[in-house]
Amino acid sequence: MRFPSPGHARNTAALRAQLEQLGAGFDLADDVPAGSALGTPLAAFGRTLGNRFCIHPMEGWDGTPEGAPSELTLRRWRRFGGSGAALLWGGEAFAVTRDGRANPNQLCLGQDSERHLVALRTEVQAGAREAGVADPVLGLQLTHSGRFCRPDGPFAPRIAHHHPALAAKYRLAPDQPLLSDGELEAIGEAMLASAKVAHRAGFAFVDVKCCHGYLLHELLAAHTRPGPYGGSLANRMRLFERIVAGIRRDCPGLQIGVRLSAADTAPYERDPETGVGRLMAMPHGWRQFHFGIAADDPTRFDLAEPLAFVQRAQQLGIAAINVTLGSPYWNPHLQRPAAYPPSDGYQPPFDPLLMVGQHLAVTRALKQACPALAFVGTGYTYLQEWLPHVALRQVERGFVDLIGLGRMVLAYPDLPRDVLQGHGLQRKRICRTFSDCTTAPRNGMVSGCFPLDPFYKDRPEAERVKQLTKDLRT
Ligand SMILES: Cc1cc2nc3c(=O)[nH]c(=O)nc-3n(C[C@H](O)[C@H](O)[C@H](O)COP(=O)(O)O)c2cc1C
Repeated sequence: MRFPSPGHARNTAALRAQLEQLGAGFDLADDVPAGSALGTPLAAFGRTLGNRFCIHPMEGWDGTPEGAPSELTLRRWRRFGGSGAALLWGGEAFAVTRDGRANPNQLCLGQDSERHLVALRTEVQAGAREAGVADPVLGLQLTHSGRFCRPDGPFAPRIAHHHPALAAKYRLAPDQPLLSDGELEAIGEAMLASAKVAHRAGFAFVDVKCCHGYLLHELLAAHTRPGPYGGSLANRMRLFERIVAGIRRDCPGLQIGVRLSAADTAPYERDPETGVGRLMAMPHGWRQFHFGIAADDPTRFDLAEPLAFVQRAQQLGIAAINVTLGSPYWNPHLQRPAAYPPSDGYQPPFDPLLMVGQHLAVTRALKQACPALAFVGTGYTYLQEWLPHVALRQVERGFVDLIGLGRMVLAYPDLPRDVLQGHGLQRKRICRTFSDCTTAPRNGMVSGCFPLDPFYKDRPEAERVKQLTKDLRT
């Protein structure tokens, strides 16, 4: 481990000193009692959410080849349902076409999708009932994987613009054809068809996903694309707006959220000598290939366009924005701050606490610009023992409305309940960001918390994951 872990800080004063020395730009509450601001209700999605926790979407790479949930998928959704979080943001990415899947085991639209989605919703409700908590407000995250489609295993990219560095990294021909305008519109129709199924299956909202390098996020970066879907921001948002308009027209009452990669850096790669992440060379510059990036520095953000996106989303009646950064494919150290990289990653080039600080700062800036819109924040898992303390400070200051939880709830889904009841965290269940949940699927296995969840510890994959990650943990 190259940087001191927040989990080693003995108390809030010690972590505060560490954060100040780093210039991380955020602070934490000293105490998180029962009845704290994390338990205050929030009006969003046309409902009243009973508290300020949200479960982020997380795939398990465990759907059937037909795109239906497996027993593992159902187990995960049931655990999320019993977490005590008031909001379940999509469960996991649901591909709107078979060939738009990011892996052969991703859930996707098919003939029986309505039945499958009802089964998932029922599982969430059963989890809530078992745990004695209110049913969470439930959404479905709609995705098309664009450049990162792998419906049958190998990459089968469908790109919206040419990105020279990503083309080199993923060995794309320089003349790889772009998705045509008609193909983009057909994907928009598939998004709408999926929203209709989610609506019929009783989901409260859909997320028109614009993050992590997948298609609608790639379109936001398509400055160099000719025609009606590239160039100006209005053009780059055109498909998104078309999908939103279709859902509004055909699914009355269905709410819409957006998970947005609100800022970015140029792509990173592993330095073969040190194993640490370093910027990839981008001889053509980076600004015209990314969304929310500064012109003078490939590691700095420029929030002008993301702010314009969020303001427009508010005009369109979007219920909430779930703010995330970057992509797991080109800057995983930013997208999911971690002590240890996944097997295809690199050692963190910066203290992950600084990356957490970037998530918090971007969310705060967007919230300040659009105070009436609900915002979900990301990047809290790395805080480990101090997640509740930082979360409380962010919420009580009005910097964010809901605390999104990702990797932490794979190991410890009932963390929100413990926090809301004023209990201390169960230390043995705290995610230490080993990245096994990413290493496993990168190597063709299902995802889950192999180090901490006894169910996954006992699975046949656990030993292989351990071998794969051994060298990364020294
Ligand atoms: C195993 C795994 C699967 C994920 N799947 C999705 C997904 O389907 N959709 C999505 O928007 N983000 C996905 N993410 C990203 C998380 O939602 C979240 O943004 C990230 O883990 C950072 O939050 P954290 O620090 O609380 O873990 C995934 C992350 C992990 C570790």
